[in-house]
Amino acid sequence: MDRKPLKLGVLGTGMIATTRGGVIPNLRHIPEKVELVAVADTVMERAEQVQQEFAVPEVYGSLEEMLERADIEAVVNLTPIPFHGATSLQILEAGKHVVSEKPIATTMEETDALIEMAHSKGLTFVCSPPNVLYPYHQEARRLIAEGAIGQVAFARVRSSHGGPAAGDWPGDPTWFYQEGSGPLFDMGVYGIHEITSLLGPAKRVVGFSGITDPTRTVHGGPFKGKEIEVTADDNTLFMLDFGDSAFAVVDGTFNVNAAKSPRIEIFGRAGTLNMSDRWMSRDGAPPLELYRVEAVPGMGGWLTPLAWSLGPQQERADMLGRAIIVDHLVDCVWEGKHPDLSAEHARHALEIMIKAIESARTGRAIDLQTTF
Ligand SMILES: NC(=O)c1ccc[n+]([C@@H]2O[C@H](COP(=O)([O-])OP(=O)(O)OC[C@H]3O[C@@H](n4cnc5c(N)ncnc54)[C@H](O)[C@@H]3O)[C@@H](O)[C@H]2O)c1
Repeated sequence: MDRKPLKLGVLGTGMIATTRGGVIPNLRHIPEKVELVAVADTVMERAEQVQQEFAVPEVYGSLEEMLERADIEAVVNLTPIPFHGATSLQILEAGKHVVSEKPIATTMEETDALIEMAHSKGLTFVCSPPNVLYPYHQEARRLIAEGAIGQVAFARVRSSHGGPAAGDWPGDPTWFYQEGSGPLFDMGVYGIHEITSLLGPAKRVVGFSGITDPTRTVHGGPFKGKEIEVTADDNTLFMLDFGDSAFAVVDGTFNVNAAKSPRIEIFGRAGTLNMSDRWMSRDGAPPLELYRVEAVPGMGGWLTPLAWSLGPQQERADMLGRAIIVDHLVDCVWEGKHPDLSAEHARHALEIMIKAIESARTGRAIDLQTTF
């Protein structure tokens, strides 16, 4: 296999493309894997600014132009959520691999078309979020699989924050609150990927969903004071049924301004597993905590082995920031392997999100059809 750096184009030069933990600034950590050839954004000045700041050879004002003129093998899709499906399909049609921000698209039809197109053209499709690549997640999966907490009964998954308007957002956060986006697609998607990676595909969903406040005022940043009309539900909670009486409750809201609980708690017949992280959990909490009913003979107790603290693998993941999804694409292309961040997993997550809302509207639990 040719191990020359993959020639890359980036579509959408907004916040996640350019901020410190974002994609473009961190590509410098993997020069042996990628060569950033071009950036494109429908707002040309923004793309030009990024071109200058990161010394990118080529800049374009549209995806069409970039696909037509740039010598690239893959595109990183960093457009806002409502554009993912259509733009990723164009990229695949042009014969380029895709790395997409989450969610994969907003309809099942678009998603099926993406998977079919990638398959028929022999292209690799990697879809964010990246969490299942992180060592703490993989260790949690290993612990559950080897029975460390016994038969899983239920999980509580916190997958929300206060919303981009609640902080000092560097861009205009309006689209996050509007039809086609919202916290379920923006944030709930993280928890769905994680819990389904740990417990397997879900079989049924039941949800509650609504708008807590029809307007939000931007708290800080360049758009401070802007009033946003909220047209997407900003408060969605749902339950997943994994079969065998294993359940999970997951949130996807813009109403968690602070929390001290572990981000994910999984309760099993023989113990409890807590998963935390430094961004969305209490400060100083270890990434994993395990309670075992029989920690020592006849007595339960909490265990936090040192092996679960941040090791070199996690340090590399932290260093790469969001560019880890590009790093994963290159590994998959080079090694000809199916992505861990697969389009099929992303389709299952999307089905859950769409049906959680449908359940909230109809008051019924809804069966899930997809798997991964
Ligand atoms: N901002 C974050 O913290 C964050 C974190 C993780 C993932 N994401 C995901 O990254 C994606 C982008 O988010 P963001 O915060 O960077 O948004 P953003 O609004 O800051 O940037 C999006 C950019 O895409 C451009 N754009 C819109 N439509 C386009 C099109 N058809 N072709 C080319 N360019 C187009 C916009 O002009 C803008 O510059 C979203 O899917 C979001 O869910 C964002």
